[in-house]
Amino acid sequence: MMLIDKLKKIVGQDGLTQDKSELEPRLTDWRGVVRGEAYAVVFPACSKEVSLVVQACAEVGVSIVPQGGNTGMCAGSVPDNSGEQVIISLARMSAIRAVDAANFSMEVEAGCILENIQNEASAVNLHFPLSLGAEGSCQIGGNLSTNAGGINVLRYGTARAQVLGLEVVLADGTIVNSLRSLQKDTAGYDLKQLFIGSEGTLGIITAATLRLYPQPGEKTTALVALKEAGDAVNLLGQLRTVLADKIEAFELVSGYAFELLEKHIPDSRLPFTEKESWYVLIDVAIEDDKVRLERALMDALEIGLICNAVVAKNSTEAEKLWRMRHSIAEAERAEGKSLKHDISVPGSRMQEFLQRGDQLLSSISPDARLIVFGHVGDDNLHYNVTVPNESKEGELVTGAIYDLVDELGGSFSAEHGVGQLKRHYLLKYRSTAEISLMRTLKAALDPENILNPGKVI
Ligand code: FAD
Ligand code: MLT
Ligand code: ZN
Repeated sequence: MMLIDKLKKIVGQDGLTQDKSELEPRLTDWRGVVRGEAYAVVFPACSKEVSLVVQACAEVGVSIVPQGGNTGMCAGSVPDNSGEQVIISLARMSAIRAVDAANFSMEVEAGCILENIQNEASAVNLHFPLSLGAEGSCQIGGNLSTNAGGINVLRYGTARAQVLGLEVVLADGTIVNSLRSLQKDTAGYDLKQLFIGSEGTLGIITAATLRLYPQPGEKTTALVALKEAGDAVNLLGQLRTVLADKIEAFELVSGYAFELLEKHIPDSRLPFTEKESWYVLIDVAIEDDKVRLERALMDALEIGLICNAVVAKNSTEAEKLWRMRHSIAEAERAEGKSLKHDISVPGSRMQEFLQRGDQLLSSISPDARLIVFGHVGDDNLHYNVTVPNESKEGELVTGAIYDLVDELGGSFSAEHGVGQLKRHYLLKYRSTAEISLMRTLKAALDPENILNPGKVI
């Protein structure tokens, strides 16, 4: 029997397609940088079907590309050019299986859209803190496979920290069910953490038990204008002494990123008449802290650390500011191709990175512009440059920026992963011992290289 017939037998006639127009949106990454081809896309409806699909593919040596919302930034969910790979989409596995409010946990299938999880938690007066611009279309399986960050890492940690249990299908079809909902569990290796952040190369995540939190309550949102990006780090230090861990988000946005928002995203407008080079968008939990935040910002204004600030008067104003922040990736995409550098450096070296990065860029590519924004509260910046990908100049710029990041003790991939775009940088910037251990793990879990080959390692 042909593979396609075997797959149809498993998922049913409606559970897969080879139709070119239906395949099309799944063959290119969100930014339109990489394109592949595929034999078929399969939509299993349960973990058992995922397991059988994996077995059927493994039997004939056909490799698999797991795909969630296809919003990833490193083309990890895009197949290669062979036209022989099978995409496994988790879209049909979108159920919220159970909410255990008393246990502050929720069990979901991997294809569940992130926003639906946030809403379901709110419905029982609890909070799921993972939040990012793609939350209306990315899936929790994709979030976990990339160990996504987003805007609330400062207070709650990355996707990894939100997982209590996981269900995974291995390369031979074995279903490993570790869907426990325990806050503490030291029985053996913490297997779930192996699959989180492995971008579909070690197993297919089919379900997860997520950690929920009490509702943080009303938030106070402020937008602050700064002369220097480096001042953002000092401001965060000052605010932390007053507000401790109540700062939920602390996001840097350059003046140029705001210009792109005003140009490409309807209803985007800076709430200042005088423009500055840099801005920070801040969320503080608990409304009572509004006064403390305002006082701390006044102090920062008096000593010249910031130039201006607005505190959102209500949730509508706050949402408008956050909508702009979440739309930067879209505005950047609309402006045209750019080089993305999702870097992190220790906070204490951020100022040095920004200064030396500027100098590097003016010497290599004087006409290029920087589009800088991101999670400065997590020491993670999207340090993007308006130079086309796959150009000689682009390679030089990226190489120089990553070398600087490495010298300062940082990472070339803070939250987007490696996918197929950054594999060679993984080899360059991770030690021989680390690469060797990664290869050992890959070979142990996927000896025939069936799962997302050509990605990560
Ligand atoms: P996909 O893009 O479909 O897949 C990503 C990787 O995970 C691929 O390697 C894929 O093979 C694998 N994968 C997907 N599902 C599974 C599964 N069930 N099992 C095993 N492997 C799987 N990222 C951040 O970290 N922080 C941000 O703030 C952020 N903001 C974004 C804003 C926008 C507008 C966009 C477009 C993207 C943003 N991203 C951000 C990038 C992206 O990582 C996230 O959108 C998201 O985590 C990817 O989820 P997805 O379902 O789209 O995964
Ligand atoms: C963001 O922080 O908005 C995302 O990581 C998306 C991006 O980097 O473009
Ligand atoms: Zn980001």
